[in-house]
Amino acid sequence: MTSSLDESWRSLLDAVAEERRWPTSTAVARVGAKVAALSAAYNDGEGRAPAAARESDGLLARLLFSFPRDVPKGAAAAGELVRARAIPWGPLKVLDVGAGLGAMTWGLVRELGDAGHEGAIDVTFFDDDAAALKLALRIAELKKHPGLRVRAVHGSAHQAPKQVFDVVIAGQVLSELDRELTPEERVTRHRDLLASLLGRTSPEGALVVVEPALRDRTRHLHAVRDALLEAGQARVFAPCLHEAPCPALATHGDWCHEDRSIDLPDWLRPVARAAGLRWEGLTFSYLVLKKEDRRLIRALPGGGVRLRVVSDRIVTKGKSEVLLCGEDGLRPKVTRLDRSRSEANARWDRLHRGDLIAIDPPPAPRVESENRVLSIDVEPFSQ
Ligand SMILES: C[S@@+](CC[C@H](N)C(=O)[O-])C[C@H]1O[C@@H](n2cnc3c(N)ncnc32)[C@H](O)[C@@H]1O
Repeated sequence: MTSSLDESWRSLLDAVAEERRWPTSTAVARVGAKVAALSAAYNDGEGRAPAAARESDGLLARLLFSFPRDVPKGAAAAGELVRARAIPWGPLKVLDVGAGLGAMTWGLVRELGDAGHEGAIDVTFFDDDAAALKLALRIAELKKHPGLRVRAVHGSAHQAPKQVFDVVIAGQVLSELDRELTPEERVTRHRDLLASLLGRTSPEGALVVVEPALRDRTRHLHAVRDALLEAGQARVFAPCLHEAPCPALATHGDWCHEDRSIDLPDWLRPVARAAGLRWEGLTFSYLVLKKEDRRLIRALPGGGVRLRVVSDRIVTKGKSEVLLCGEDGLRPKVTRLDRSRSEANARWDRLHRGDLIAIDPPPAPRVESENRVLSIDVEPFSQ
């Protein structure tokens, strides 16, 4: 289970900041102001963020705040892939596109370690921001992770290195690309970009895409997913348990994203407060693609119908409901009446967005007491 960054990272990130004569995480008000400024640039809809993120104030905010917040996103996005061992399990070659400071890679590295992977990991950080790459290299140098070798390559995301990699990651970079195009043109452009990044993966490799949980960014990712499937250019490993068109796209204004209960590390909470940002929970969206026909659904235990929880639990008088996205590509709203609460379905009360569950017998659009929740915290990977 992914958690927030441990305390050892704090001194490492502070050391990198000190080398640059930047304030450290103890300078809560100063760092908080820079984090607030970067966050405003991301959220004001004027497209200021990419430039602001490259300035030294932006880099400081990314080093001390975004990096520790984003490592668990990378870990959560790659976690199912790693726990299912759906990538080559020896020495690994990784390409991190739009790597920035390398947070996504560190998330992957953490999941690999937790899953007992011991082989060498060769990482290429790829970005068009030389200053961010310098920070990524320095972080890796100080971290001294056994078996990890990193190099940095400077260049545009549309011209990523052409070697073969076992894992290619594109973390929160799609959002920054091709903003001048129309939405339809961007979908086609990013379908082709992801197809070409997937083309760089080894036969058993994978492409992991992470995006902000914002509605328009995530719906764009859904549309790119559907376009890739329609063109036969990719197989979907996760989060979807099916390869039908995304049912969230069919509902105007809907989007399928994660909201994990992973809070910011303790040392960052004062900074988040000073910046006026939340420290609870972690939101993002993700998509894991493969060339081969290997899908997460096959790593799950059989029995009943397998589904993913794709909404919060909506509790109203006398009932609670969740949206579930199933292996059949449907997205039923499943209801459990309070009066039907029983030992067999008690886990229902602890359902959380992103959980994988099995329901037996399969739920009709409205489900009542006779449907038993078999397993909420399925351990699908303990083969
Ligand atoms: C929001 S940051 C994400 C960094 C990192 N992947 C993460 O998730 O923490 C986006 C990164 O993409 C890079 N980027 C933006 N446009 C790019 C392009 N056209 N080519 C290469 N990198 C790009 C930026 O320099 C920045 O480091």
